[in-house]
Amino acid sequence: QMMARIEAAKAVKEEDKLYRYGGVLYPVILAPEENLKALEDIEARPDDVMLVAYPKCGFNWMVAVIRKIISAATGQGREDSKPPLIEFFGPEQLQHFAQAPSPRFIGTHMHPDNIPSSFTKKKTKILVIFRNPKDTAVSYYHFSNKNPVLPSAESWDMFYKDFIAGEVAWGSYFDHVLAWEKKMDDPNVLIITYEELKQDLSKGVQRVSDFFGFNLGEDTVNSIADRSTFRAMKESSHSSHGNMGSIFFRKGEVGDWKNHFSQAQSEEMDTAFEKHLAGTQLGALLNY
Ligand code: A3P
Repeated sequence: QMMARIEAAKAVKEEDKLYRYGGVLYPVILAPEENLKALEDIEARPDDVMLVAYPKCGFNWMVAVIRKIISAATGQGREDSKPPLIEFFGPEQLQHFAQAPSPRFIGTHMHPDNIPSSFTKKKTKILVIFRNPKDTAVSYYHFSNKNPVLPSAESWDMFYKDFIAGEVAWGSYFDHVLAWEKKMDDPNVLIITYEELKQDLSKGVQRVSDFFGFNLGEDTVNSIADRSTFRAMKESSHSSHGNMGSIFFRKGEVGDWKNHFSQAQSEEMDTAFEKHLAGTQLGALLNY
């Protein structure tokens, strides 16, 4: 069904691919207004497993890790099923979700203020993944150009301008970082960076498993980490993501921004970040 919608996007004009809701841009094919309006009706459960990431911060990586954790801990769930973004839910999927057995696994790219309030009320645990803004921008640029659901950028410079202005799908990366920074000490929120995962994936898997209360042993954790490297995931990407596989698993490295950013762009982004995040906990995790 997702594949059919992505195919349908090819018929949409470039300038019509994104629309504005609450001042923020969203892809009309995957997250139409009626989906976003229905979000507040979602009823959370305390044992829901929620994953949040701004686009291109490593969402699909963590989806795969969490699926493997749930599968190892409970014996339930297919490891290769599609990413469950709540803003892509139409009425049918919402109904299905309401009746699904616990633990339900869902994700979103939405800004924290737009995540259904029921999740906070029920104290649902939320894992947030962030990535250095420069690599995020580069990854988003390539993704937009290959994914028919999003508009193609005329050039890297054009995309960079839109990214820094927040004129991309799901809005401004800066707004998301600043909002999550305020939740760093919330016991129901765990923020991990892409860079930390690249440095020590086993440690990351253990932290995620412990945070959600699955308490897996070391051998299971190491096996999940081994099966979740970029290489392993790229190899199995056809079965997990169909023809979109090579688009979701591009390079998987830290520092690719150096091949795209001009000196002036790099300095402009550093200045914007230092202004907002210098001296903060999340700023330090992201090297600012
Ligand atoms: P690049 O475009 O820099 O390669 P998302 O899943 O949020 O859309 O993020 C996609 C980015 O995460 C892509 O970055 C992709 O290659 C990278 N990625 C996916 N799986 C990964 C893995 N197992 N290890 C490292 N990076 C991964």
